[in-house]
Amino acid sequence: MKANLETFFKPKSIAVVGASRDTRKIGNAALKNILISDYECKIYPINPKEKEILGLKCYKKLTQVPKDIDLVLISVPAKIVPEILRDCAAKKVKNVIIISSGFSEVNNQGLEDELKEIIKNSNMNVLGPNVMGYKNASIGLDASFVYGNPRKGNVALISQSGALGIGMIYLANNEYMGVSKIIGVGNKIDIDDDDLIDYFAKDPDTKVIGLYIEAVKDGRAFMNSIKACDKPVLVVKAGRSKAGARATASHTGSMAGSDKIYSAAIKQAGGIRCRDIVELFDSAKALAGQPPLKGNRIGIITNGGGLGVLLTDACEEAGLTIPKLSQKTYKKIDKILPDLINPNNPVDLSADAGFFRYDAATSALLEDPNIDGVIVASVHGGYARPEEFIGAILQMIKERKLHEEYKKPIIATWVGGREYEDLVLDLKAAGVPIYPSAWRTARSMMALYLEGQRIKKDKNKKRKQQYYFREKK
Ligand code: ACO
Repeated sequence: MKANLETFFKPKSIAVVGASRDTRKIGNAALKNILISDYECKIYPINPKEKEILGLKCYKKLTQVPKDIDLVLISVPAKIVPEILRDCAAKKVKNVIIISSGFSEVNNQGLEDELKEIIKNSNMNVLGPNVMGYKNASIGLDASFVYGNPRKGNVALISQSGALGIGMIYLANNEYMGVSKIIGVGNKIDIDDDDLIDYFAKDPDTKVIGLYIEAVKDGRAFMNSIKACDKPVLVVKAGRSKAGARATASHTGSMAGSDKIYSAAIKQAGGIRCRDIVELFDSAKALAGQPPLKGNRIGIITNGGGLGVLLTDACEEAGLTIPKLSQKTYKKIDKILPDLINPNNPVDLSADAGFFRYDAATSALLEDPNIDGVIVASVHGGYARPEEFIGAILQMIKERKLHEEYKKPIIATWVGGREYEDLVLDLKAAGVPIYPSAWRTARSMMALYLEGQRIKKDKNKKRKQQYYFREKK
């Protein structure tokens, strides 16, 4: 059966094997992170030499802990890990995170196989080895050894790379993107991407799932989990080039596999492939805050003709269309424009466009049945009024919730310098998807379109949950 990860993500008791008083050691950082988490649970440090660490009673061996343990973090050198994992099995521990490195990623396959054998004869869910652990922002638990806490939100992130996972936390914070859980999967000897997709698919705190993967171990299970998931699944698959595939082998011991097959499989399963983390975050922000696109017809509003053309090109190239305005919409917008400008799509509001023009033009496009979604853009040209652009979008999305009323997404683009960026932060903090590039904007709109298509297909097919059952467990 598939892994049940309920107690893995919400443990009532946690032990750290290899907990240390030494502040330079990972076992110290992991224990400290759990201890300072805004989450209540029993904590047991395990170290053969210590009686107490960070004010907590320390046990010499896991098997000496008198109570049940839901989750164990292992931070001892690789060669001791099999012995500790056997202790976990003897103690009937439900879940284990093996932080330690030194397995298949450094060609120590024999040691990794030994761990697999122990897991096979137990009921444990095991994450890793070679992982950072996880941060469950939904409940405030930090079960990792790394610093940095994500903002609470509704995007779940799964990373095969620990360091990149940490980078994602900081990038997400910088972009004001809220995270429900972030987890490193490392060498994936037991808990795999498909188990996590299944868990996040049912997690009420998660709306969008994003993965960084270098290789998939069980392609059928991976595809079935994406197929069965009723939430958008965004996938960055690394190792696309020959040299990149070589790099994944030495990083996590993974075989990158044929890139074309990965692309086709992800698409067929209903996932969305992203080229890098920035594209994944862009798409995740749009999907987390805006309704999916029902069709691919986009209305563009701008105060700069050049940016309008760039957005048009990017949208068409991504697979969206920019239809001509209907007579009715033309007339509505014509009324609000200066005499010398004729409305078109993209709608050029002219350089001095302020709050009223942005507001009225966006409403006109949202009301148009031939338009499925709207991009609102601003260039910091000489006469521009960035405060009014930002204010108009904030009011449309945060106060009037026009995207919900019309069930059409509204996303924004800007081009400007530092002083403009400060204003853009207000939109990011409010969860409004806004991007500094036409291409990034178009790709995010495309993610909303693909999600709309997935939902349509699902409704038509009335899909059933298709779980892949492992032989063991
Ligand atoms: N039971 C419990 N504790 C034990 C046992 C045992 N059987 N044997 C030893 N220990 C104790 C040690 O005495 C030590 O405690 P001390 O400081 O009080 O002496 C503690 O466990 C740790 O053991 P050390 O030998 O000091 O090992 P160290 O902490 O230096 O390294 C580690 C262990 C961190 C697991 C290391 O081997 C390793 O794998 N590092 C890489 C981890 C990593 O990067 N993982 C990938 C993360 S993803 C990313 O890239 C961020």
